[in-house]
Amino acid sequence: LREHEEFTKVKNIATIELGRYEIETWYFSPFPPEYNDTLKLFFCEFCLNFMKRKEQLQRHMRKCDLKHPPGDEIYRSGTLSMFEVDGKKNKVYGQNLCYLAKLFLDHKTLYYDVDLFLFYVLCECDERGCHMVGYFSKEKHSEESYNLACILTLPPYQRKGYGKFLIAFSYELSKKEGKVGTPERPLSDLGLLSYRGYWTRVLLDILKKHKSNISIKELSDMTAIKADDILTTLQGLDLIQYRKGQHAICADPKVLDRHLKAAGRGGLDVDVSKLIWTPYK
Ligand code: ACO
Ligand code: ZN
Repeated sequence: LREHEEFTKVKNIATIELGRYEIETWYFSPFPPEYNDTLKLFFCEFCLNFMKRKEQLQRHMRKCDLKHPPGDEIYRSGTLSMFEVDGKKNKVYGQNLCYLAKLFLDHKTLYYDVDLFLFYVLCECDERGCHMVGYFSKEKHSEESYNLACILTLPPYQRKGYGKFLIAFSYELSKKEGKVGTPERPLSDLGLLSYRGYWTRVLLDILKKHKSNISIKELSDMTAIKADDILTTLQGLDLIQYRKGQHAICADPKVLDRHLKAAGRGGLDVDVSKLIWTPYK
């Protein structure tokens, strides 16, 4: 956030209407000043343009011809689709998405420079169109090997496994790029919980199959999870011993089973055979 906004970070918009949902907001978002005297904003669920009055939205819906995010559909499995939106080709959409997302993201900077990002927008599709469930953004080129900048599941869709799906998706893209990745820091509490849950499940599943005969480097190559994140996850599970100046994984099958039971639901799986995508160049 720019400095003057940091000092006036009072929550401005209280609720939004988006598709068939009315959603209470969580945080301040720096909408243009003309929206600051508005308690409720009305979003077009497809192009994400926002308006102050319901009648404006109704008029807009009669002429807006989008029925899905303005980008390429790169994944479809059942009713679930993922669209890739290039912030440079769809600047207004990218900005609208950032305004919307900031309402639910604390301590994250808002990107005015949406040119530099790709947005992966997850939708549930039906005969009326593709309804946004959540998204993540990704820098086109990251020096720090970030594979995800911001992640959001819209509140009506939270706690159903979509967050872990988005995280899994970000790692599938990294695998296709032949790179390891890590989410941009800082993580929110909910972000950390979701990542920890994802990392734990993925690593435990592999360890169970390989019975500890595997190194952190090999785990990283298989999962595209950055070695640091693997180490902290396994340390948190008490599966790391430090011997002769080296970290070693020691995974007693009983301990693995106990952790796996505690790890909760696996979430929705990404079916890689349904991902049609080539890395950004
Ligand atoms: N209370 C306790 N645990 C939770 C909660 C909650 N409210 N929400 C998620 N979790 C944990 C659980 O362990 C859950 O797994 P489980 O249901 O199997 O127990 C796990 O996180 C993931 O749950 P999902 O249903 O897959 O995730 P969800 O769709 O709810 O999305 C997300 C998670 C994206 C973090 C969501 O909470 C959100 O959008 N929050 C607001 C924005 C935010 O904080 N984003 C992350 C910022 S950090 C960054 O962007 C790099
Ligand atoms: Zn529209």
